[in-house]
Amino acid sequence: MADPRGSRAATYEAAPNIALVKYWGMRDPALGLPMNSSLSVTLDRLKTRTSVRFDPALPEDRFVLNGIEPSGGPLDAVVRFLDRVRALSGRTERADVVSSNNFQTASGLASSASGFAALAGAATTAAGLRLSPRALSSLARLGSGSASRSVFGGFVEWRAGRKPDGSDCYAVPLFGPRHWPALVDVVALVAGAPEKQVRSAEAMQSTVRTSPEYAGRQASLPARLRAIRDAIRRREGPRLFDLIMEECDDFRTVCETTVPTLDYLTPVSRRILDAVRALNEEAGTTLAGYTHDAGAHVHIFTLERSASRVRRRLEDVVGVSRVLTLHAGEGGRLVAGGGRAA
Ligand code: DP6
Repeated sequence: MADPRGSRAATYEAAPNIALVKYWGMRDPALGLPMNSSLSVTLDRLKTRTSVRFDPALPEDRFVLNGIEPSGGPLDAVVRFLDRVRALSGRTERADVVSSNNFQTASGLASSASGFAALAGAATTAAGLRLSPRALSSLARLGSGSASRSVFGGFVEWRAGRKPDGSDCYAVPLFGPRHWPALVDVVALVAGAPEKQVRSAEAMQSTVRTSPEYAGRQASLPARLRAIRDAIRRREGPRLFDLIMEECDDFRTVCETTVPTLDYLTPVSRRILDAVRALNEEAGTTLAGYTHDAGAHVHIFTLERSASRVRRRLEDVVGVSRVLTLHAGEGGRLVAGGGRAA
């Protein structure tokens, strides 16, 4: 139960993550339990900062994202999430939620991951709950699956587990943000990238139901995940880059073979994938590996010594609006609040 004298306001910051092994499909949508384990890198520089304040004077929950009050789906998702926090903490007050991203929302830079990780951290702290990082990650999962990984920094695995109650389903930090400083994520931002029309949570279930390639993907994932974890552990760039491209291509295949088809890329995104393939061909080795989520932007992993060559190549692709150079970053953190007086 919440301490009635506890803090009612808190601010929490979390970063997006990019999945190297994708979560795509739920075995239990109500509990947010995935079909397969996934693995991601939490990124530096990009942040969502969210403040939550519970206030007995508020007639209903209020949500402001980047200065705008969204209605419909995004507001409903926040209210549902706050209801869970109220149920856990025993609080009944409505909340004021103010959130901002230092990057474009819903564009494939995974703002739902950082968004729900930040909301989970701020809302539970404001409600007077003190959750372990694992419990916080499991709660964040109920807002957005990928948010379970953004609670942690560095390289993170979200274990699917097998139990129907989800008690063995949680994210674990594998290697910290400083494990592999030479690994660079060069992000090619696509001009005019469309906003996501269907939430991934819905789209992935349509893949599970209709893609003839889905069963084959699921069968190959455990071995691929082990290989990717091993390549990261040993800091083997070319091996990792080959594996993440294979995984990304496989993810794209199950999306494209979904009925109706799911196509997240634009012609510019496809030119970026071609540019990376051509660069590797010319170099005679795998200098870089691409991956993308359910969006048009492309993340290209490479090593520090090749980063400027990769950047130049991407800047030359017509339709690339900006190129960001990112690294593995820190997990979520409390910025303010959590004290007893409020
Ligand atoms: C392709 O858990 O972020 O990024 O919140 O509904 O958008 P929504 O779902 P989310 O889906 C992630 C799908 C993915 C792969 C991944 O991040 O593992």
